[in-house]
Amino acid sequence: MSAPNKPFDPKEVSALSPENIAIAVAEALEAFSSAATLDELKEARLTHAGDRSALALANREIAALPPAAKAEAGKRIGQARGEVNAALESRTVELEAARDHELLALEAVDVTTVVAQPSHGGRHPLTTIQEHIADVFIALGYSVAEGPEVEAEWFNFDALNIAADHPARTMQDTFFVGNENSGLVLRTHTSPVQIRTMLTQEPPIYVICPGRVFRTDELDATHSPVFHQVEALVVDKGITMADLKGTLDHFASTMFGEGIVTRLRPSFFPFTEPSAEVDLQCFLCRGASVDNPDAPCRTCRSEGWIEWGGCGMVNPKVLVACGIDPDVYSGFAFGMGLERTLMFRHGITDMRDMVEGDVRFTRAFGLGV
Ligand code: DAH
Repeated sequence: MSAPNKPFDPKEVSALSPENIAIAVAEALEAFSSAATLDELKEARLTHAGDRSALALANREIAALPPAAKAEAGKRIGQARGEVNAALESRTVELEAARDHELLALEAVDVTTVVAQPSHGGRHPLTTIQEHIADVFIALGYSVAEGPEVEAEWFNFDALNIAADHPARTMQDTFFVGNENSGLVLRTHTSPVQIRTMLTQEPPIYVICPGRVFRTDELDATHSPVFHQVEALVVDKGITMADLKGTLDHFASTMFGEGIVTRLRPSFFPFTEPSAEVDLQCFLCRGASVDNPDAPCRTCRSEGWIEWGGCGMVNPKVLVACGIDPDVYSGFAFGMGLERTLMFRHGITDMRDMVEGDVRFTRAFGLGV
């Protein structure tokens, strides 16, 4: 049994004494203001405003007071806790602002800082020009054909009507794979793709074949043992040299500028009959330098025309070798070197620049050609 209640004086409950409450408040305010970080403030909050703080303890004592004393004590504690919470709140705001400020400073990015960039190359102009040519012909309804770089001698020579005693077949020009009797060569031109196409497709045939070719040439300013050609082959009913000329002129103008045309000079290739050399009208002087010593042109050496490639009507012997009836079908073909095309298109004077793989060369071309 507890003793009988005597009249209650709240000052007697030590936790509730104004002095102790003032001390608790003072200690809380001191702890909050000396907290230098949000973590320290959290500690201080648990100690001075948490469930086990002196003020929380005092608050709980109120419940034990007689009703007459509750109001006064409650008001005093309430004020004290209000003061502590307000101080806590304002210190929280201060410290959060300080933290945000620090974070912003820490995470600031100087967008003007020069950083070490990995060095990028550029697409090789030979790649981009091949794609450009493919685009021109795909727009005309052609497709792109491909053949192997290690080629059967039969495709590279025989089927193209290049006889066994043709000078191109000697060791001088051709890389033989294995020995000279292996029957395999590194293709010396893209023309064998004509044969492969005619053997696998029925006319009408409209193809181009860009690709790498090989010849036993020393690398110098104008030769490389590995270079690129683009070949075109059309086989259809009623194809004439007018179609060949019109196609070449269209090709020339899309590559070198509106109005640039080609000229055909009689020539000989075993796989075409008749055959012609294709000359390109000089796209720089357009002929203005011819017989005009006052305005010489370096691109065409003031000749007005630039040698570009070979062409002709597909030799009926070649059609027959591929099982196509020359009485029903006729065709044309042409082929040109891509390195040469790039050289005069861009004024490149040394073939070696194109094969040596110096990124400064390719980078200068960027993405376009
Ligand atoms: N293949 C020939 C060469 O490499 C170029 C050529 C000439 C291709 C006439 C052709 C053509 O398609 O009709 O020299």
